[in-house]
Amino acid sequence: LLFLFLFFSSSLNEYHSTLSHSSFTPSNVRKTKHTTTPDGVVSSASTNKSSTAHKVIKNNVKKKSSLERNEEDLAQARAAIREAVRSRKYYTSEKKETFIPRGSVYRNPYAFHQSHIEMVKRFRVWSYSEGEQPLVHNGPVNDIYAIEGQFISEIESGKIFCRASHPEEAHVFFLPLSVTNIVDYVYKPITSETDFHRDRLQHIVMDYIKVVADKHPYWNRSNGADHFMLSCHDWALDVSVANPELFENFVRVLCNANTSEGFRPIRDVSLPEIHLLFGTLSTAVQGHAPSDRPILAFFAGRAHGDIRKFLFEHWKDKDSDVQVHEYLPKGPNYIKIMGQVKYCLCPSGFEVASPRVVEAIYMGCVPVIISDGYHLPFSDVLNWNQFSVQIAVERIPEIKTILQGIPNEKYLKMQKKVLKVQRHFVLNRPAKPFDAIHMVLHSVWLRRLNFALPTS
Ligand SMILES: *[C@@H]1O[C@H](CO)[C@@H](O)[C@H](O)[C@H]1NC(C)=O
Ligand SMILES: *[C@@H]1O[C@H](CO)[C@@H](O)[C@H](O)[C@H]1NC(C)=O
Ligand SMILES: *[C@@H]1O[C@H](CO)[C@@H](O)[C@H](O)[C@H]1NC(C)=O
Repeated sequence: LLFLFLFFSSSLNEYHSTLSHSSFTPSNVRKTKHTTTPDGVVSSASTNKSSTAHKVIKNNVKKKSSLERNEEDLAQARAAIREAVRSRKYYTSEKKETFIPRGSVYRNPYAFHQSHIEMVKRFRVWSYSEGEQPLVHNGPVNDIYAIEGQFISEIESGKIFCRASHPEEAHVFFLPLSVTNIVDYVYKPITSETDFHRDRLQHIVMDYIKVVADKHPYWNRSNGADHFMLSCHDWALDVSVANPELFENFVRVLCNANTSEGFRPIRDVSLPEIHLLFGTLSTAVQGHAPSDRPILAFFAGRAHGDIRKFLFEHWKDKDSDVQVHEYLPKGPNYIKIMGQVKYCLCPSGFEVASPRVVEAIYMGCVPVIISDGYHLPFSDVLNWNQFSVQIAVERIPEIKTILQGIPNEKYLKMQKKVLKVQRHFVLNRPAKPFDAIHMVLHSVWLRRLNFALPTS
Protein backbone atom coordinates (compact mmCIF):
# COMPACT_ATOMS: atom_id res chain seq x y z
CA LEU A 1 0.00 0.00 0.00
CA LEU A 2 2.75 2.47 0.88
CA PHE A 3 4.87 1.64 -2.05
CA LEU A 4 5.99 5.14 -2.81
CA PHE A 5 6.19 6.63 0.62
CA LEU A 6 8.98 4.29 1.41
CA PHE A 7 10.99 5.82 -1.41
CA PHE A 8 11.42 8.69 0.91
CA SER A 9 12.76 6.73 3.77
CA SER A 10 16.53 6.63 3.81
CA SER A 11 16.66 2.87 4.09
CA LEU A 12 17.20 1.07 0.82
CA ASN A 13 16.13 -2.23 2.34
CA GLU A 14 12.70 -0.86 3.03
CA TYR A 15 12.58 0.34 -0.53
CA HIS A 16 13.43 -3.06 -1.99
CA SER A 17 10.88 -4.82 0.12
CA THR A 18 8.16 -2.71 -1.47
CA LEU A 19 9.17 -3.38 -5.05
CA SER A 20 7.32 -6.65 -5.20
CA HIS A 21 4.01 -5.10 -4.26
CA SER A 22 1.49 -4.15 -6.82
CA SER A 23 0.34 -0.59 -6.87
CA PHE A 24 -2.37 0.36 -4.47
CA THR A 25 -5.84 0.94 -5.84
CA PRO A 26 -8.22 3.18 -3.94
CA SER A 27 -11.04 1.27 -2.32
CA ASN A 28 -14.41 1.20 -4.03
CA VAL A 29 -12.97 1.96 -7.41
CA ARG A 30 -14.92 -0.01 -10.03
CA LYS A 31 -14.34 -3.72 -10.03
CA THR A 32 -11.60 -3.73 -12.69
CA LYS A 33 -8.92 -3.42 -10.07
CA HIS A 34 -5.23 -4.04 -10.54
CA THR A 35 -5.05 -3.70 -14.27
CA THR A 36 -1.82 -1.85 -13.70
CA THR A 37 0.65 -4.58 -12.99
CA PRO A 38 3.96 -4.08 -11.24
CA ASP A 39 5.53 -4.77 -14.63
CA GLY A 40 3.68 -1.92 -16.20
CA VAL A 41 4.77 0.33 -13.40
CA VAL A 42 8.46 -0.34 -13.81
CA SER A 43 8.46 -0.72 -17.58
CA SER A 44 10.22 2.47 -18.53
CA ALA A 45 13.17 1.93 -16.23
CA SER A 46 13.94 -1.65 -17.20
CA THR A 47 15.03 -2.90 -20.56
CA ASN A 48 13.33 -6.14 -19.76
CA LYS A 49 12.20 -8.05 -22.80
CA SER A 50 8.80 -8.93 -21.49
CA SER A 51 7.82 -5.41 -20.50
CA THR A 52 9.20 -3.91 -23.70
CA ALA A 53 7.21 -6.40 -25.71
CA HIS A 54 4.16 -5.61 -23.66
CA LYS A 55 4.53 -1.94 -24.54
CA VAL A 56 4.97 -2.51 -28.27
CA ILE A 57 1.86 -4.65 -28.47
CA LYS A 58 -0.13 -2.03 -26.65
CA ASN A 59 1.04 0.72 -29.00
CA ASN A 60 0.01 -1.24 -32.06
CA VAL A 61 -3.42 -2.17 -30.88
CA LYS A 62 -5.03 1.20 -30.45
CA LYS A 63 -4.51 4.86 -29.88
CA LYS A 64 -4.09 5.56 -26.19
CA SER A 65 -6.80 7.27 -24.21
CA SER A 66 -5.83 10.28 -22.14
CA LEU A 67 -6.24 8.18 -19.03
CA GLU A 68 -3.79 5.62 -20.40
CA ARG A 69 -1.35 8.36 -21.27
CA ASN A 70 -1.66 9.82 -17.79
CA GLU A 71 -1.15 6.48 -16.14
CA GLU A 72 1.89 5.81 -18.30
CA ASP A 73 3.25 9.18 -17.35
CA LEU A 74 2.89 8.36 -13.68
CA ALA A 75 4.46 4.95 -14.23
CA GLN A 76 7.45 6.60 -15.85
CA ALA A 77 7.74 9.02 -12.96
CA ARG A 78 7.69 6.14 -10.46
CA ALA A 79 10.35 4.31 -12.43
CA ALA A 80 12.59 7.37 -12.57
CA ILE A 81 12.23 7.91 -8.82
CA ARG A 82 12.99 4.25 -8.16
CA GLU A 83 16.06 4.48 -10.32
CA ALA A 84 17.29 7.58 -8.46
CA VAL A 85 16.77 5.77 -5.16
CA ARG A 86 18.52 2.66 -6.38
CA SER A 87 21.54 4.38 -7.86
CA ARG A 88 21.69 7.17 -5.28
CA LYS A 89 22.34 9.64 -8.05
CA TYR A 90 21.06 13.05 -9.01
CA TYR A 91 19.89 12.82 -12.59
CA THR A 92 19.56 16.22 -14.14
CA SER A 93 16.61 17.19 -16.25
CA GLU A 94 16.76 19.02 -19.56
CA LYS A 95 16.48 22.33 -17.79
CA LYS A 96 19.23 23.29 -15.41
CA GLU A 97 18.12 22.79 -11.83
CA THR A 98 18.19 25.84 -9.60
CA PHE A 99 18.34 23.82 -6.42
CA ILE A 100 19.37 20.29 -5.51
CA PRO A 101 18.20 18.90 -2.17
CA ARG A 102 21.11 17.43 -0.22
CA GLY A 103 21.83 16.18 3.24
CA SER A 104 20.11 14.73 6.24
CA VAL A 105 17.21 17.19 6.44
CA TYR A 106 15.73 15.09 3.63
CA ARG A 107 14.49 11.60 4.24
CA ASN A 108 15.82 10.64 0.84
CA PRO A 109 17.33 13.55 -1.12
CA TYR A 110 17.71 11.52 -4.35
CA ALA A 111 14.07 10.49 -4.32
CA PHE A 112 12.92 14.00 -3.55
CA HIS A 113 15.10 15.58 -6.20
CA GLN A 114 13.85 13.21 -8.87
CA SER A 115 10.27 13.37 -7.71
CA HIS A 116 10.28 17.17 -7.85
CA ILE A 117 11.71 17.07 -11.39
CA GLU A 118 9.09 14.54 -12.48
CA MET A 119 6.34 16.61 -10.91
CA VAL A 120 7.35 19.83 -12.66
CA LYS A 121 7.68 17.97 -15.94
CA ARG A 122 4.45 15.95 -15.83
CA PHE A 123 1.97 16.91 -13.14
CA ARG A 124 -1.30 18.47 -14.30
CA VAL A 125 -4.01 19.72 -11.97
CA TRP A 126 -7.52 20.69 -13.02
CA SER A 127 -9.32 23.20 -10.85
CA TYR A 128 -13.09 22.82 -11.25
CA SER A 129 -14.74 25.96 -12.60
CA GLU A 130 -18.13 25.28 -10.98
CA GLY A 131 -19.31 27.52 -8.17
CA GLU A 132 -19.15 31.20 -7.49
CA GLN A 133 -17.20 33.61 -5.34
CA PRO A 134 -16.85 34.18 -2.47
CA LEU A 135 -17.32 30.56 -1.32
CA VAL A 136 -15.47 29.09 -4.29
CA HIS A 137 -12.54 30.50 -6.34
CA ASN A 138 -11.65 32.90 -3.54
CA GLY A 139 -10.16 32.74 -0.06
CA PRO A 140 -8.26 34.72 2.56
CA VAL A 141 -4.87 35.97 1.36
CA ASN A 142 -3.83 37.61 4.64
CA ASP A 143 -3.62 36.67 8.27
CA ILE A 144 -3.22 33.18 9.69
CA TYR A 145 -5.31 31.36 7.06
CA ALA A 146 -3.60 33.18 4.18
CA ILE A 147 -2.24 30.06 2.54
CA GLU A 148 -5.81 29.00 1.71
CA GLY A 149 -6.60 31.96 -0.54
CA GLN A 150 -3.05 32.23 -1.86
CA PHE A 151 -3.14 28.62 -3.00
CA ILE A 152 -6.58 28.89 -4.64
CA SER A 153 -5.50 32.05 -6.40
CA GLU A 154 -2.17 30.59 -7.52
CA ILE A 155 -3.77 27.43 -8.91
CA GLU A 156 -6.34 29.49 -10.80
CA SER A 157 -3.87 32.16 -11.94
CA GLY A 158 -2.76 30.22 -14.99
CA LYS A 159 0.88 30.87 -14.07
CA ILE A 160 1.39 27.72 -12.08
CA PHE A 161 3.42 25.05 -13.84
CA CYS A 162 0.83 22.33 -13.31
CA ARG A 163 -2.34 23.92 -14.58
CA ALA A 164 -4.15 21.54 -16.93
CA SER A 165 -5.64 23.19 -20.00
CA HIS A 166 -8.33 20.51 -20.17
CA PRO A 167 -9.63 18.13 -17.48
CA GLU A 168 -8.69 15.12 -19.65
CA GLU A 169 -5.06 16.08 -19.13
CA ALA A 170 -5.29 16.17 -15.36
CA HIS A 171 -3.79 13.72 -12.87
CA VAL A 172 -5.68 15.33 -10.01
CA PHE A 173 -8.71 17.57 -9.56
CA PHE A 174 -8.91 20.50 -7.18
CA LEU A 175 -12.10 21.64 -5.47
CA PRO A 176 -11.40 25.37 -5.06
CA LEU A 177 -13.69 25.82 -2.04
CA SER A 178 -12.65 28.04 0.83
CA VAL A 179 -13.78 26.79 4.24
CA THR A 180 -12.67 30.09 5.77
CA ASN A 181 -14.93 32.02 3.39
CA ILE A 182 -17.80 29.61 4.00
CA VAL A 183 -17.45 30.23 7.73
CA ASP A 184 -17.17 34.00 7.20
CA TYR A 185 -20.07 34.37 4.79
CA VAL A 186 -22.48 31.62 5.70
CA TYR A 187 -22.03 31.34 9.45
CA LYS A 188 -21.51 34.88 10.59
CA PRO A 189 -22.82 36.36 12.76
CA ILE A 190 -22.50 33.51 15.22
CA THR A 191 -24.88 34.30 18.04
CA SER A 192 -25.57 31.02 19.77
CA GLU A 193 -23.99 27.64 20.41
CA THR A 194 -26.03 25.96 17.65
CA ASP A 195 -24.68 28.43 15.09
CA PHE A 196 -21.40 26.53 15.30
CA HIS A 197 -22.95 23.34 13.97
CA ARG A 198 -20.93 21.99 11.13
CA ASP A 199 -23.85 20.74 9.02
CA ARG A 200 -24.00 23.81 6.80
CA LEU A 201 -20.33 23.50 5.97
CA GLN A 202 -20.71 19.79 5.33
CA HIS A 203 -23.70 20.31 3.06
CA ILE A 204 -21.94 22.92 0.96
CA VAL A 205 -18.96 20.66 0.37
CA MET A 206 -21.13 17.60 -0.34
CA ASP A 207 -23.31 19.62 -2.74
CA TYR A 208 -20.22 20.77 -4.55
CA ILE A 209 -19.00 17.21 -4.92
CA LYS A 210 -22.42 16.17 -6.19
CA VAL A 211 -22.38 18.92 -8.81
CA VAL A 212 -18.96 17.97 -10.19
CA ALA A 213 -19.64 14.22 -9.93
CA ASP A 214 -22.89 14.59 -11.89
CA LYS A 215 -21.42 16.80 -14.54
CA HIS A 216 -18.02 15.19 -15.11
CA PRO A 217 -16.84 11.57 -15.12
CA TYR A 218 -13.77 12.07 -12.91
CA TRP A 219 -15.08 11.79 -9.38
CA ASN A 220 -16.87 8.49 -10.02
CA ARG A 221 -13.92 7.10 -11.95
CA SER A 222 -11.65 7.18 -8.89
CA ASN A 223 -14.24 7.52 -6.15
CA GLY A 224 -12.62 10.82 -5.24
CA ALA A 225 -9.10 9.46 -4.83
CA ASP A 226 -7.62 11.91 -7.35
CA HIS A 227 -9.54 14.86 -5.91
CA PHE A 228 -8.40 17.27 -3.23
CA MET A 229 -9.32 20.40 -1.35
CA LEU A 230 -7.16 22.69 0.76
CA SER A 231 -7.95 24.66 3.89
CA CYS A 232 -6.20 26.21 6.83
CA HIS A 233 -9.37 26.72 8.86
CA ASP A 234 -9.75 24.70 12.08
CA TRP A 235 -13.14 23.36 10.97
CA ALA A 236 -11.96 21.93 7.66
CA LEU A 237 -11.22 18.57 9.25
CA ASP A 238 -14.97 18.26 9.91
CA VAL A 239 -16.08 18.48 6.28
CA SER A 240 -16.13 14.70 6.00
CA VAL A 241 -17.71 13.79 9.34
CA ALA A 242 -21.30 13.65 8.04
CA ASN A 243 -20.45 11.21 5.25
CA PRO A 244 -17.14 9.40 5.84
CA GLU A 245 -17.78 7.02 2.97
CA LEU A 246 -17.95 9.80 0.40
CA PHE A 247 -14.61 11.14 1.62
CA GLU A 248 -12.88 7.82 2.10
CA ASN A 249 -10.37 8.29 -0.71
CA PHE A 250 -10.51 12.07 -0.95
CA VAL A 251 -7.34 14.06 -0.19
CA ARG A 252 -7.74 16.87 2.34
CA VAL A 253 -4.88 19.34 2.58
CA LEU A 254 -5.21 20.82 6.05
CA CYS A 255 -3.44 22.97 8.62
CA ASN A 256 -5.39 21.17 11.31
CA ALA A 257 -3.48 17.92 10.83
CA ASN A 258 -4.65 16.36 14.09
CA THR A 259 -4.34 12.58 13.84
CA SER A 260 -6.56 12.12 16.92
CA GLU A 261 -9.32 13.94 15.13
CA GLY A 262 -9.34 11.95 11.89
CA PHE A 263 -6.39 13.35 9.93
CA ARG A 264 -4.99 10.43 7.88
CA PRO A 265 -1.30 10.95 7.02
CA ILE A 266 -1.44 8.51 4.10
CA ARG A 267 -4.30 10.28 2.31
CA ASP A 268 -4.32 13.77 3.75
CA VAL A 269 -1.64 16.42 3.51
CA SER A 270 -0.43 18.58 6.38
CA LEU A 271 -0.39 22.23 5.36
CA PRO A 272 1.88 24.77 7.10
CA GLU A 273 0.07 27.69 8.68
CA ILE A 274 1.70 30.86 7.35
CA HIS A 275 0.79 34.18 8.91
CA LEU A 276 0.87 36.92 6.27
CA LEU A 277 0.41 40.57 7.19
CA PHE A 278 -1.88 42.57 4.93
CA GLY A 279 -0.42 43.00 1.47
CA THR A 280 2.80 41.11 2.20
CA LEU A 281 4.32 37.79 1.28
CA SER A 282 6.63 35.83 3.50
CA THR A 283 10.22 36.73 4.12
CA ALA A 284 12.80 34.48 5.70
CA VAL A 285 15.94 35.98 7.19
CA GLN A 286 19.06 34.71 8.91
CA GLY A 287 18.28 36.42 12.21
CA HIS A 288 21.14 36.74 14.66
CA ALA A 289 24.13 34.43 14.36
CA PRO A 290 23.67 31.29 16.46
CA SER A 291 26.38 32.49 18.89
CA ASP A 292 24.48 35.73 19.38
CA ARG A 293 21.14 34.40 20.55
CA PRO A 294 21.07 35.19 24.27
CA ILE A 295 17.55 33.87 24.98
CA LEU A 296 17.29 30.09 25.40
CA ALA A 297 13.56 29.71 24.76
CA PHE A 298 10.68 32.03 23.99
CA PHE A 299 6.95 32.11 23.46
CA ALA A 300 4.42 34.93 23.29
CA GLY A 301 0.78 34.31 22.54
CA ARG A 302 -2.68 33.87 23.95
CA ALA A 303 -3.74 31.11 26.31
CA HIS A 304 -5.69 29.31 23.58
CA GLY A 305 -6.33 25.66 24.36
CA ASP A 306 -5.18 23.31 27.11
CA ILE A 307 -1.55 22.93 26.05
CA ARG A 308 -0.87 26.65 26.33
CA LYS A 309 -2.69 26.84 29.64
CA PHE A 310 -0.40 24.14 30.96
CA LEU A 311 2.63 25.97 29.53
CA PHE A 312 1.58 29.21 31.22
CA GLU A 313 1.00 27.47 34.54
CA HIS A 314 4.63 26.44 34.58
CA TRP A 315 6.48 29.17 32.76
CA LYS A 316 4.49 32.38 32.33
CA ASP A 317 6.68 35.36 33.32
CA LYS A 318 8.81 33.18 35.60
CA ASP A 319 12.18 32.53 34.05
CA SER A 320 14.73 34.57 32.15
CA ASP A 321 15.96 31.59 30.10
CA VAL A 322 12.54 30.25 29.21
CA GLN A 323 10.60 33.42 28.41
CA VAL A 324 6.90 32.77 28.14
CA HIS A 325 4.49 35.68 27.88
CA GLU A 326 0.81 36.07 27.24
CA TYR A 327 1.23 39.75 26.33
CA LEU A 328 4.40 41.40 25.17
CA PRO A 329 5.33 44.78 26.57
CA LYS A 330 4.82 47.48 23.92
CA GLY A 331 7.80 47.98 21.69
CA PRO A 332 9.63 44.90 20.52
CA ASN A 333 7.57 42.70 18.28
CA TYR A 334 7.76 39.02 18.91
CA ILE A 335 8.98 38.17 15.43
CA LYS A 336 12.06 40.35 16.00
CA ILE A 337 12.68 38.70 19.34
CA MET A 338 12.60 35.28 17.68
CA GLY A 339 15.72 36.35 15.79
CA GLN A 340 17.59 36.47 19.12
CA VAL A 341 16.30 33.19 20.48
CA LYS A 342 17.82 29.72 20.23
CA TYR A 343 14.63 27.71 20.63
CA CYS A 344 11.17 29.02 19.78
CA LEU A 345 8.36 27.26 21.59
CA CYS A 346 5.47 26.32 19.31
CA PRO A 347 2.70 24.94 21.49
CA SER A 348 -0.60 24.00 19.84
CA GLY A 349 -3.46 26.43 20.40
CA PHE A 350 -7.10 25.74 19.55
CA GLU A 351 -5.80 23.49 16.78
CA VAL A 352 -2.58 21.55 16.38
CA ALA A 353 -0.91 23.83 13.85
CA SER A 354 0.54 27.15 14.91
CA PRO A 355 1.92 29.93 12.70
CA ARG A 356 4.84 30.05 15.19
CA VAL A 357 6.47 27.04 13.53
CA VAL A 358 6.94 28.84 10.24
CA GLU A 359 7.72 32.15 11.97
CA ALA A 360 10.50 30.44 13.93
CA ILE A 361 11.91 28.92 10.74
CA TYR A 362 11.83 32.33 9.02
CA MET A 363 13.86 33.82 11.91
CA GLY A 364 16.47 31.07 12.09
CA CYS A 365 15.11 29.88 15.43
CA VAL A 366 14.90 26.14 16.11
CA PRO A 367 11.20 25.30 16.54
CA VAL A 368 10.18 23.34 19.61
CA ILE A 369 6.98 21.50 18.76
CA ILE A 370 4.76 20.98 21.79
CA SER A 371 1.77 19.14 20.52
CA ASP A 372 -0.23 15.98 20.57
CA GLY A 373 -1.08 14.08 17.39
CA TYR A 374 0.27 16.79 15.08
CA HIS A 375 1.43 15.39 11.74
CA LEU A 376 4.07 17.91 10.69
CA PRO A 377 3.99 19.49 7.20
CA PHE A 378 6.02 17.90 4.39
CA SER A 379 7.16 15.05 6.60
CA ASP A 380 7.08 12.66 3.63
CA VAL A 381 10.18 14.49 2.53
CA LEU A 382 11.64 16.37 5.49
CA ASN A 383 13.32 14.88 8.54
CA TRP A 384 11.90 17.16 11.19
CA ASN A 385 14.08 15.80 13.96
CA GLN A 386 17.11 17.28 12.18
CA PHE A 387 15.90 20.87 12.56
CA SER A 388 13.34 20.90 15.35
CA VAL A 389 12.84 19.58 18.87
CA GLN A 390 9.67 17.81 19.89
CA ILE A 391 8.64 17.91 23.52
CA ALA A 392 5.69 15.89 24.75
CA VAL A 393 2.98 17.88 26.51
CA GLU A 394 3.56 16.04 29.82
CA ARG A 395 7.17 17.19 29.80
CA ILE A 396 6.39 20.91 29.67
CA PRO A 397 7.72 21.32 33.23
CA GLU A 398 11.10 19.99 32.01
CA ILE A 399 11.47 22.35 29.03
CA LYS A 400 14.48 24.12 30.51
CA THR A 401 16.42 20.99 31.43
CA ILE A 402 15.63 19.34 28.10
CA LEU A 403 16.83 22.33 26.06
CA GLN A 404 19.87 22.97 28.25
CA GLY A 405 20.74 19.30 27.86
CA ILE A 406 21.16 19.63 24.09
CA PRO A 407 24.92 19.92 23.36
CA ASN A 408 25.94 23.14 21.64
CA GLU A 409 27.32 21.32 18.57
CA LYS A 410 23.96 19.70 18.11
CA TYR A 411 22.19 23.05 18.45
CA LEU A 412 24.51 24.59 15.84
CA LYS A 413 23.74 21.80 13.39
CA MET A 414 20.01 22.13 13.90
CA GLN A 415 20.15 25.89 13.51
CA LYS A 416 22.03 25.58 10.23
CA LYS A 417 19.39 23.16 9.00
CA VAL A 418 16.59 25.54 9.96
CA LEU A 419 18.13 28.05 7.55
CA LYS A 420 18.41 25.28 4.99
CA VAL A 421 14.72 24.38 5.05
CA GLN A 422 13.50 28.00 4.96
CA ARG A 423 12.98 27.86 1.20
CA HIS A 424 10.38 25.11 1.64
CA PHE A 425 8.21 27.30 3.85
CA VAL A 426 8.42 30.56 1.94
CA LEU A 427 5.31 31.55 0.03
CA ASN A 428 6.02 33.16 -3.34
CA ARG A 429 3.59 34.50 -5.93
CA PRO A 430 4.06 33.27 -8.53
CA ALA A 431 5.26 30.09 -6.87
CA LYS A 432 8.88 29.01 -7.27
CA PRO A 433 10.44 25.56 -7.33
CA PHE A 434 10.74 24.00 -3.85
CA ASP A 435 8.78 26.78 -2.11
CA ALA A 436 5.72 26.24 0.09
CA ILE A 437 3.25 26.00 -2.81
CA HIS A 438 5.47 23.55 -4.69
CA MET A 439 5.88 21.52 -1.50
CA VAL A 440 2.11 21.34 -1.05
CA LEU A 441 1.67 20.27 -4.66
CA HIS A 442 4.48 17.76 -4.25
CA SER A 443 2.67 16.25 -1.26
CA VAL A 444 -0.46 15.85 -3.41
CA TRP A 445 1.64 14.49 -6.28
CA LEU A 446 3.09 11.81 -3.97
CA ARG A 447 -0.38 10.71 -2.96
CA ARG A 448 -1.39 10.49 -6.60
CA LEU A 449 1.72 8.47 -7.44
CA ASN A 450 0.67 6.07 -4.75
CA PHE A 451 -2.12 4.50 -6.77
CA ALA A 452 -2.98 3.65 -10.34
CA LEU A 453 -6.39 3.97 -11.93
CA PRO A 454 -7.70 1.11 -14.04
CA THR A 455 -7.32 2.03 -17.70
CA SER A 456 -9.82 -0.35 -19.19
C1 LIG B 1 14.23 -8.31 -15.88
O1 LIG B 1 13.36 -8.70 -14.83
C2 LIG B 1 13.94 -9.60 -13.92
C3 LIG B 1 12.87 -10.04 -12.93
O2 LIG B 1 11.76 -9.21 -12.97
C4 LIG B 1 15.14 -8.92 -13.23
O3 LIG B 1 15.75 -9.80 -12.31
C5 LIG B 1 16.14 -8.48 -14.27
O4 LIG B 1 17.19 -7.78 -13.66
C6 LIG B 1 15.46 -7.61 -15.33
N1 LIG B 1 16.39 -7.32 -16.40
C7 LIG B 1 16.76 -6.08 -16.71
C8 LIG B 1 17.70 -5.97 -17.86
O5 LIG B 1 16.35 -5.11 -16.11
C1 LIG C 1 -21.65 9.43 -10.55
O1 LIG C 1 -22.33 8.63 -9.60
C2 LIG C 1 -23.47 9.25 -9.06
C3 LIG C 1 -24.00 8.36 -7.93
O2 LIG C 1 -24.02 7.03 -8.32
C4 LIG C 1 -24.50 9.48 -10.16
O3 LIG C 1 -25.64 10.11 -9.63
C5 LIG C 1 -23.86 10.38 -11.20
O4 LIG C 1 -24.73 10.56 -12.29
C6 LIG C 1 -22.57 9.77 -11.71
N1 LIG C 1 -21.92 10.74 -12.57
C7 LIG C 1 -21.75 10.57 -13.87
C8 LIG C 1 -21.07 11.65 -14.60
O5 LIG C 1 -22.13 9.55 -14.45
C1 LIG D 1 -6.72 16.95 18.59
O1 LIG D 1 -7.83 16.11 18.61
C2 LIG D 1 -8.19 15.60 19.88
C3 LIG D 1 -9.36 14.66 19.66
O2 LIG D 1 -10.48 15.32 19.14
C4 LIG D 1 -8.54 16.74 20.82
O3 LIG D 1 -8.83 16.24 22.11
C5 LIG D 1 -7.35 17.68 20.90
O4 LIG D 1 -7.69 18.81 21.68
C6 LIG D 1 -6.95 18.15 19.51
N1 LIG D 1 -5.74 18.95 19.62
C7 LIG D 1 -5.76 20.26 19.46
C8 LIG D 1 -4.50 20.97 19.73
O5 LIG D 1 -6.74 20.86 19.09
